[in-house]
Amino acid sequence: MNKSPDAQRMEKIVSLCKRRGFIFQSSEIYGGLNGAWDYGPLGVELKRNLKNYWWRVMVHERDDVVGMDGSILMNRAVWKASGHEDTFTDPMVDCRSCKARFRSDQLIDKKGVKQCPNCGGKDLTVPRAFNLMFKTFVGATEDESSVTYLRPETAQSMFVQFKNVLEVSRKKLPFGIAQIGKAFRNEINPRNFTFRSREFEQMELEYFCRAEEGIKWLDYWLEERLKFYESIGIPRARLHAHEIPDDERAFYSKGTYDIEFDFPFGRQELEGVAYRTDYDLQQHQKASGKSLEYFDEETKQRFIPHVVEPSAGVDRTVLALICEAYDEDTAPDEKGKLETRIVLRFHPRMAPIKCAVFPLLKNKEPLVAKAKEIVDLLRPHMNVFYDESGAIGRRYRRQDEIGTPFGVTVDFETLGEKDPALRETVTLRDRDSMKQERVPIKELGGILTSRIR
Ligand code: GAP
Repeated sequence: MNKSPDAQRMEKIVSLCKRRGFIFQSSEIYGGLNGAWDYGPLGVELKRNLKNYWWRVMVHERDDVVGMDGSILMNRAVWKASGHEDTFTDPMVDCRSCKARFRSDQLIDKKGVKQCPNCGGKDLTVPRAFNLMFKTFVGATEDESSVTYLRPETAQSMFVQFKNVLEVSRKKLPFGIAQIGKAFRNEINPRNFTFRSREFEQMELEYFCRAEEGIKWLDYWLEERLKFYESIGIPRARLHAHEIPDDERAFYSKGTYDIEFDFPFGRQELEGVAYRTDYDLQQHQKASGKSLEYFDEETKQRFIPHVVEPSAGVDRTVLALICEAYDEDTAPDEKGKLETRIVLRFHPRMAPIKCAVFPLLKNKEPLVAKAKEIVDLLRPHMNVFYDESGAIGRRYRRQDEIGTPFGVTVDFETLGEKDPALRETVTLRDRDSMKQERVPIKELGGILTSRIR
């Protein structure tokens, strides 16, 4: 069967990710581990750029948000109070013919008869609740008293530390706590590359406010988050704010949006923006017996704040960035013949490597020395890459394929051998337009930092 253009595009993306060191299968030499992925030298840079930028926008550039970094293991009581132990489940069905297990919403429905998506069998068990949390034991004994779970979201530590953070930060409502960290879910069918994984990272904000302002802040954060995606290179036209209808929302939520992106495998959720009311703090106050109230010094009232939560997936956003950036166009090879060029059009602020520096020829010592000098000049300000091997066109192509937005070439003009006026200047090549401009070396740092921030 012929693959659709979208499926072919996705295959090319997955293959590029492995070939160029963005993403590898975890434990690959042992056959992998389903739902777990490793980020290679370029993937880790992309991921860090995303997390650092999220932190900058959500924490550093605001007066009303502080950060924290909670532990992955928490007291089991947290998961009982939050409802995760009882209700963080997927309904599962087993196929008695091929023994495969599926989420019940993944069964095939043929004229009202449910069938196994694997073998087409109709001998299926009734749906059973399957908890998605990874269970583990704390300490030397493995019994009920030592059970806890790897956290399935980062959110809970921000709720249970609400009082501590409030006290030390001396913030007034509205204010938020932000966190980036690992989360684990024993997903039944991990799929679509890193999209649905068993180990992933989240970037979450819990924004505490007064009850009467909950909807206002929900609308505000939805818009802020959409702007964030635009500012990292995902155009608004590819983003969709899907309002979750009343009957599909968590019972405690007064409004939830999913921010979705058009992946090659379909429109899928990148982030949830949920108005969770006071549910979480109420639950923890009740279960712990400790007050999680806020004292309003002006009105002298005590109350449990409400919460608006923008919760984004790091890995899903990285995948969206790669899918959005992937492009093929044509560029001339060394002999001027047009060839297909693979290019990742990352926003410069997300690109793993910001600038590649090339001496025109590797066997001309003054060119090499000058290029290395430029690397040293730029290195304190950005991630740079030095490459002297192969024809210059090939070197450009290798950087295009990993999304490096700028290329600096040191040539004989730089040395002043052709025109003294061009001494100490280099060519600066733009990845997308492939145009080159001549710039003085002393202005290079300023020009580049202004374009990558
Ligand atoms: N605290 C709320 C919360 O965790 P969620 O919608 O379950 O809400 C938030 O998760 C985000 O975490 C999702 O929008 C997605 O980006 C990411 N995420 C959730 N499950 C994931 C998985 N299995 N693999 C990768 N990312 C996941």
